[in-house]
Amino acid sequence: MIHKIMPRGEAQKKAIALFRELALPDPDHIGDRYPHQVSGGQLQRLMAAMALITDPALVIMDEPTTALDVTTQIEVLRAFRNVVRERGTTAVYVAHDLAVVAQIADRIMVLRRGDHQETGTTRQIIEAPTHEYTRSLLAAARPAPHPATASAEPAAQPLLRIAGLEAGYGRPGADGLPAKRVLYDVNLSVGRGQTIGVIGESGSGKTTLARVIACLMPPARGEVTFDGKPLPPGLAHRSREQLRRIQIVFQNADTALNPAQTVEDILSRPLQLYHGLHGDALRQRVAKLLGLVQLPASMAQRSPQGLSGGQKQRVNLARALAAEPDLILCDEVTSALDTVVGAAILELMAELRRELGVSYLFISHDLNTVRSICDEVVVMYAGRIVEVVPRDALVHPPHHPYAELLSASVPQLRLGWLDGLAIKAGENIPGPGGDAGGCPFFDRCPVRIQGVCDAKAPPRRQLRGEMEVLCHHTGEELLALSSAANTVVSA
Ligand SMILES: Nc1ncnc2c1ncn2[C@@H]1O[C@H](COP(=O)(O)OP(=O)(O)O)[C@@H](O)[C@H]1O
Ligand code: SF4
Ligand SMILES: [Mg+2]
Repeated sequence: MIHKIMPRGEAQKKAIALFRELALPDPDHIGDRYPHQVSGGQLQRLMAAMALITDPALVIMDEPTTALDVTTQIEVLRAFRNVVRERGTTAVYVAHDLAVVAQIADRIMVLRRGDHQETGTTRQIIEAPTHEYTRSLLAAARPAPHPATASAEPAAQPLLRIAGLEAGYGRPGADGLPAKRVLYDVNLSVGRGQTIGVIGESGSGKTTLARVIACLMPPARGEVTFDGKPLPPGLAHRSREQLRRIQIVFQNADTALNPAQTVEDILSRPLQLYHGLHGDALRQRVAKLLGLVQLPASMAQRSPQGLSGGQKQRVNLARALAAEPDLILCDEVTSALDTVVGAAILELMAELRRELGVSYLFISHDLNTVRSICDEVVVMYAGRIVEVVPRDALVHPPHHPYAELLSASVPQLRLGWLDGLAIKAGENIPGPGGDAGGCPFFDRCPVRIQGVCDAKAPPRRQLRGEMEVLCHHTGEELLALSSAANTVVSA
């Protein structure tokens, strides 16, 4: 259309064929929708269609799957790769995730701060990198687990306990539940000095959970207990001490920091508010906090605008630490960062935990990140906790079918991983089963039981005495189903 070289009807036909090639649902009509009426993964494929409609000789894709969940990423990567292969188009695929690039590229060029580091075939870069920076990228893509908390024994009284929590948005109905329900019967504990990871696709309710704990929104039902005492649901009802002891760090360091203030102003506020510091004592404490997050003291006079993403996230962390909290809620704190910078932040957080004994509720959509830092992992799907598992048991089946799907969808740093993948990941749209009483994962579940899973809410089951899943299948059934699926994948 832009190039005005094709009649409208013909262009439409060509677009529909492209939508079909890109495996978009309802290809005949999806073009009639507005961007907000399609999912993130569909939007990326529609943008690819826009780029391909003129049959370009070269197409450049700039981080097209970075913002997507791993499950959606698989569908989009498959679609991109097939379309590029079949059309014989030359493509430049820009990304910071080496495992993703390895699935799609023939050759890889490694850049750092605008400088060329090395270029080679995909195999050479991932199997025999020659450059130091490439090796650090490879290491960051396979983060080594940080040691678990020393006090692995669950304390008699957890620091934070959540029981039967229900929450959502919109006006409450006659039953007291909000018009848009988001969290369903959430139960969770965080021990002193423990790191609990919360993982789930975008929209599964992770941020809502953090908001309720931090008192940024009230729960509809349920109880939040902190250090043995119930936490009042409204900000006005919480004491300054209660507020001080739970801090939150958000994903987007850019919007979380006021550009009109210096780093010193930003860090001073909680120090004044919670500890009454001023004058020299205040300045010294600011310098100490900057030291804790490994930033130079001279940074105090800078504005957040001039800082890199990683530096901003360190300032954010320092602000949370200024309150000397017992619990820090971390909502996707490394998601907007490059792999190497994100790995450094995780390293820092693990060190702070050892030094200060602080607990984290670590929210992320990235299983690798959660795996590297958490003692226990909580898997959420459509507002329910579907699995709670100690970190070390993550590698041993059985698991909840959604947890299995998540773990199988994390790109692996080896050639041909995507080609060998037998799973159909599906889109992150919870099925209708949930509110209707059945399992919300029903529509996407490869091992669903017709007539049972769509009709009855699944029970919570203890497996091996160490983990919990929300599923109609027993542990033995899940184990058998999982080994059957693995036989298919490796066949
Ligand atoms: N302020 C809001 N008003 C209405 N719905 C919201 C609001 N914030 C989030 N939601 C909805 O709540 C659900 C869970 O969102 P969220 O907690 O942000 O999930 P996550 O952090 O796991 O991506 C989503 O369906 C989202 O659209
Ligand atoms: S309850 Fe049924 S649909 Fe839900 S995860 Fe288990 S098997 Fe799948
Ligand atoms: Mg979120």
